[in-house]
Amino acid sequence: MNNIYFANFKMNLSFSEIETYIKSFKGLVDSNVNHIGLFVPYIALKETKNLLGKTNILTGAQNVFQEETGAFTGEVSAQMLKECGTDIALVGHSERRQLFKEKDSEINKKIKQLMKYNIKVVLCIGETKEERSLGNTKKVIFKQLREALAGLYENELDNMIIAYEPVWAIGTGENATNKMIEEVSGIIKQTIQDLYNKVTAEKIPVIYGGSVTPKNIKILSKIKNIKGFLIGGASLNYNNFAEMVNESSKKTEG
Ligand code: PGA
Repeated sequence: MNNIYFANFKMNLSFSEIETYIKSFKGLVDSNVNHIGLFVPYIALKETKNLLGKTNILTGAQNVFQEETGAFTGEVSAQMLKECGTDIALVGHSERRQLFKEKDSEINKKIKQLMKYNIKVVLCIGETKEERSLGNTKKVIFKQLREALAGLYENELDNMIIAYEPVWAIGTGENATNKMIEEVSGIIKQTIQDLYNKVTAEKIPVIYGGSVTPKNIKILSKIKNIKGFLIGGASLNYNNFAEMVNESSKKTEG
């Protein structure tokens, strides 16, 4: 899988803005060549699926709750996501880890719930600034992967994409350098190889997220082993997002 472009709207855009976005955006990109996904707030999932219609653009959720059903006021299950037409979901986004104190063990359960309902998973991992400056990036990546993937079979990883998102680069305007991203994607591949095997490590797509913009995407697209991007702030404008998809996929074609 190459040319992956995911837009994470976070808690932004109104219903009517999402409607305008989708109606305009879908005519601006080629979703037969690129793997594109829009990660919208829960309440917009059903409408997003309807508006995307017959395109290949994926309807994405930004989170899921880890239990099947029950007394969990305010939460949304994988089954409910499926009923809304969700194709793919983010798990372990750094904002969930930092602001909502999500643990790796919960992330592991969320992945299992999503897989049960045949929803693809984007597992987000990454180190904080402090962890990097202490030289602990490798350790952190290894722990996040090992605990998130605990008990998952090799074939289940076919429905997973790993997003390397250094916490210090998200929404800060400070993106990681190509060298840093290449190094961490190597750590991710090596960890998957150690936990599973080489074939699995080679086929699992790794994408990058953290202050990706129309300005820096061309340079970032040159990174070996990075199959695409998870874009927050710069994806909120459909022209920007379409420009990023089109420019970057031109660069990486062939
Ligand atoms: P950003 O967010 O592009 O605004 O840094 C990326 C993300 O949170 O996935």
